[in-house]
Amino acid sequence: MRTNVELIAAKRDGQRLADAEIRGLIASFMDGTLADYQMASFLMATFFRGLDDAETVALTEAMLHSGKVLDLSAVAGTKVDKHSTGGVGDKVSICLAPLVAACGVPVPMVSGRGLGHTGGTLDKLEAIPGFRTDLATEDFARIVGTVGTCMIGQTKDIAPADKRIYALRDVTATVECIPLIVASILSKKLAEGIDGLVLDVKVGRGAFMKDLESARTLATALVRVGTRAGKRVVAVLTSMNAPLGEAVGNALETREAIDVLHGKGPADLVECTMVLGAEMLVLGGQAKDTHAARARLAEAISSGAALRVMERMVAAQGGDPAVVAEPSRLAIAAHEVKVAAHEAGCVTRADALEIGLAAVAMGAGRTRADQNVDPAVGISVHKKPGDRVARGDALATLHVRNPSAAAAIAERVAAAFDVGASAPAPEPLVLGRIEV
Ligand code: URA
Repeated sequence: MRTNVELIAAKRDGQRLADAEIRGLIASFMDGTLADYQMASFLMATFFRGLDDAETVALTEAMLHSGKVLDLSAVAGTKVDKHSTGGVGDKVSICLAPLVAACGVPVPMVSGRGLGHTGGTLDKLEAIPGFRTDLATEDFARIVGTVGTCMIGQTKDIAPADKRIYALRDVTATVECIPLIVASILSKKLAEGIDGLVLDVKVGRGAFMKDLESARTLATALVRVGTRAGKRVVAVLTSMNAPLGEAVGNALETREAIDVLHGKGPADLVECTMVLGAEMLVLGGQAKDTHAARARLAEAISSGAALRVMERMVAAQGGDPAVVAEPSRLAIAAHEVKVAAHEAGCVTRADALEIGLAAVAMGAGRTRADQNVDPAVGISVHKKPGDRVARGDALATLHVRNPSAAAAIAERVAAAFDVGASAPAPEPLVLGRIEV
């Protein structure tokens, strides 16, 4: 049997490790026998040498079993979740989970907080007065069973090895490593007790993966490893060059997500929700194909069934369910600052990364994990690539508490847009789909 130091050296030299060896490394890390600096060294060796699919499955399962794996066997039906790799204005989870649950597929969802320029579902949901995302796993399982969906944060019991390893990766330049990303994402998702997973792998300026090729590589690895771990997994690649929808900022985004369930909402957000929801209904056995699934989703919106699930979920999680019927009850900062077009023409760029960073600078996001966000501030994006504008038209509106401090942000948001003489080539929302 090789020692931990020998295993680190083996990976450094490009050798593959056996399943039991990877399990041993994680177990030693969790019981303190393997020090942080040794794990950091293993992570850097992995960064350069990679892991094959079998090693990545072993790492995923070792991280998954470092904590509790929820048992949702008492909940009838095929449980399916969605994971997005993160973007700007991506509030899909908030409308998608109740919508899919209303169609008979239970959705247990463990979500994250915003970090960097991307927003987080938990921060958006907490804009609802009273809404709690820190429920115990028993309450989570009960609410999934009774309401059909529940949305919480990663508890200390869920994949604790990932939490510690991610903290090390963050400070050792080993985040951008596909097998480590795959094991990190899947260990948390598989701990939810799901049967199937739909992945929304975002591509573009505001995404983790900036180009289609690297997004496809990540999506393929996630699907292959998730499938080998015994789950039904599909990935959809979607564009994240411009923000999704119009709202960027927590309460604004929650309002917009609820609008989707009222049959309103911007076309790109509605389409993204329908595409991902259709995949979830097929995986969950509630539709024979995505065409039939879309019809069921549309019916759940028009009948009000999805709104009713959302109301029950909000109430079960301690929130004020009245915001579902009346999303305008969600408080938005009192002052509006217009960001106007300097020239007439056609919008050619509405840069998701820059708009996301501006929202963070306003207080809608955080630059360190221990910061609080301001739920009421944000940006409404009125124009997207392909839209025509006259000089002076509003490209965006800032929602701020103090308008006299907003000039620099307004300039930054204005610089996120380009207006040209002719329209850019239209960019599809869906850029690919991967299944094995
Ligand atoms: N998201 C995660 O959960 N883990 C990663 O490693 C990267 C993105």
